[in-house]
Formats: sequence, C-alpha cells, structure tokens
Amino acid sequence: MKSIAFASLLALLPLAIAQSQEWGQCGGIGWTGSTTCVSGTSCVESNAYYSQCLPGASTGNGGSSQPAGGSPTSSAGAPGSTSTIAGLNAVAQAAGKKYFGSATDNPELTDTAYVAILSDNTQFGQLTPGNSMKWYATEPEQGTFDFTGGQQIVSLAQQNKQLMRGHNCVWYNELPSWLTSGTFNATELTSIVSTHCGTIVGHWKDSWDIINEPFNDDGTWRSDVFYNTLGSDFVSVALNAASAADPSTKLYMNDYNIENPGVKATAMQNLVKSLKSAGVKIDGIGFESHFIVGEIPADIQQNMEAFVALGVEVSITELDIRMTLPSTDALLEQQKQDYQTVISACMAVEGCAGMTIWDYTDKYSWVPSTFSGQGAACPWDENLVKKPAYDGIAAALQG
Ligand SMILES: *[C@@H]1O[C@H](CO)[C@@H](O)[C@H](O)[C@H]1NC(C)=O
Repeated sequence: MKSIAFASLLALLPLAIAQSQEWGQCGGIGWTGSTTCVSGTSCVESNAYYSQCLPGASTGNGGSSQPAGGSPTSSAGAPGSTSTIAGLNAVAQAAGKKYFGSATDNPELTDTAYVAILSDNTQFGQLTPGNSMKWYATEPEQGTFDFTGGQQIVSLAQQNKQLMRGHNCVWYNELPSWLTSGTFNATELTSIVSTHCGTIVGHWKDSWDIINEPFNDDGTWRSDVFYNTLGSDFVSVALNAASAADPSTKLYMNDYNIENPGVKATAMQNLVKSLKSAGVKIDGIGFESHFIVGEIPADIQQNMEAFVALGVEVSITELDIRMTLPSTDALLEQQKQDYQTVISACMAVEGCAGMTIWDYTDKYSWVPSTFSGQGAACPWDENLVKKPAYDGIAAALQG
C-alpha cells in the first residue's frame, strides 16, 4: 500500500503515538499508528484495511457496507429457488429498468465461484464497490490518490459489460486520519472536498453516490468534519466539483431510513428542493434499503414518487433483508415476500432507475458482523445457492 511510507514517517511523530481520535484510523493492513482510541470511543474493524475509532462501544447502523466474513446460516434441506427466469438483470432490463446489480468488495474477488456468478451479466448489470472507492482508500494522504482497489472492480465490471456505481465521495465514516485530525478552515476544507470529488468522479464516470448519509434519523444534519466546518454547503461544494469533473455522470445522495415518509425523508426532500432552486446539479436519490424480515416500510412506492416529483430519479442502492438467526422455512418465505414487495415498488415507479443488492450472497454479507445474532439477508445463501428470496425478486421483476 502506498500509505506505508507515510504511516512509518508519522510513527516517528508524537502525534501518532497518542491515542487515535474519534473517527480516526486505529488499525488495518499497513497501519502503523495508534491502535487505541480516546475515551468514549472504541476501535471497530471496517475491513482488513481499515479500523476506526467509533463513538461508544457498539458499531451502530453504519448503513453502508462494512464487509464481513459471513457465517453459515441456513440449514441443509432448507427450501431453495425454483425460478427458471433468464436472470435478474435480463428481466429487469426487459421491463425497462437500467440494471439489477450487486455490491462487491475486493477481498471477495479471489473466490472464483463467487466471481463467476457476479460476472454473469444476465444476473447483474451493475456493480458497486463496497469499500475501495471510499476516502481512506482513494486519498490516503492529502493530494495523493490511489485508484488501485477501485480500478480492480471497475475493470471487472468493464470486462463483464456491467455498469459501475461509484461509492462514495463525502461520508462521515471511513475517512483518512489526515482529514479527521486536521484543523482545516472553511477555505481549506472546501478545496479538499472539491479536489477529492472532482478527482474521483473525473477518474471513474457513470453514477456516483456523491453525498452519503448526511442526516441523523431525526432529520437533523449529522455532525462530522464536513458539516461542522462548512455547514450544509459541503453538499453543493461536492456536487459542483463532481458535475464539473464529468457533466454526464449521475450524481446521487444516498441514505437509509428515507425509504418511508417521515422526518428523515422530508429532510432529504427539502435538501433536493434547495439544491434545485440554487441551480446545483442533483440527479438522484439512493434508498439504501437495509431492511428486516417482516418489517418492510409500507409506503416505499409512494415515497419514491414524492422524490421523483421533485425532478430526481431514485434507485434502490444497498438492499438486503436480514433476519434473527437461525433461519427457518417460515422466515425464508417471509423474506421472499419482502424482497418481492421492495422490488415491486421500484418496478411500479417509472423514475426508479435500478436496484442493487448489498452483495448477492450471505457468504459476504456485512450483516452478521454488524448486527449481532442476525444474518441470512441476501438472495443467495452462504454456499452460493439461490434462496426463495431470489424467486420473490424474479416475480417482482416479471410484474
Ligand atoms: C485558511 O487557512 C489558510 C492556510 O493556512 C490561510 O491562508 C487562510 O487565510 C485561512 N482562511 C481563513 C478565512 O481563515
């Protein structure tokens, strides 16, 4: 990793010997800084390359994408898929959608059986990198960009003739420590955000989650290095830089708990309105859709339509539907119906562009490591066998 030399240098400085600050890095391959966190935070592994000091002791609902090893969840003899459709993406495209896609992550790409299914573009027409385009990975030192991890997934998508969804430019989490521990003023941070979003969007075009998870669940702005220094202006700074770097890339804001009408959805709608009235380019809103079996929001379709009415498209960007383990036949049947409900909402809304599941298999789901005792959230099980959930998706795509 490029950061090794820099990290070694930092290790000579008293700063790095001190405990890592809240949101600071505290571990990962190549990391030679502090592995302990300041009081009130604890070191939580995001992936092999990055651990971070998070407030409190629990990992909370980060929403986006910490990968996990995954553990066996469904028992032998569990009901499986009986669908004979051509493939989820083929059917979605035939019905007028741009894609049905999957998230993936670099460490999984050594699993040839996994990659074979991921690369079948009748199943998946789009890939989202789970981690390797995040800030810590793409700009590990200020002004020094590393495209290696992200490019590995982009190259795979290109080889497979799949679309790419960039994820993400500005997020409160998984930031490099030079950014979180710096004391940048507004002028400096504006330039840092512009440079970062302009550079990565200029490098990988297509669709991008430019703004990720800007709001708390009560609809207030999340406190982070961006909001605390720039107020809500960080949003337009990032979108303007991305738009200047590539006018044809679809620029998205992505969040969770905005799938149903409520204060958080309203906050996002108000942000869309204010950006539109200020002439800032915003093309789409991502409904992450990390759901729980039996607890699917009732008004996803209506809420999608409310966003589309504001002049943006919507997409389902990180769909998975977790259950409390162990998985049972009844839970798998309910999960099938729940997948059908969510996908049907997108199919019913013309302005819903496409759907992405947050990895296709329980083998690599982020759920078990984030939500204790829960899992089995994906349409393929940990042995890469299709579950009844697959048939729920297929039924929804076919209408
Ligand atoms: C921000 O920091 C830069 C570089 O240190 C400095 O030149 C500039 O005057 C500062 N701006 C404000 C508004 O303080």
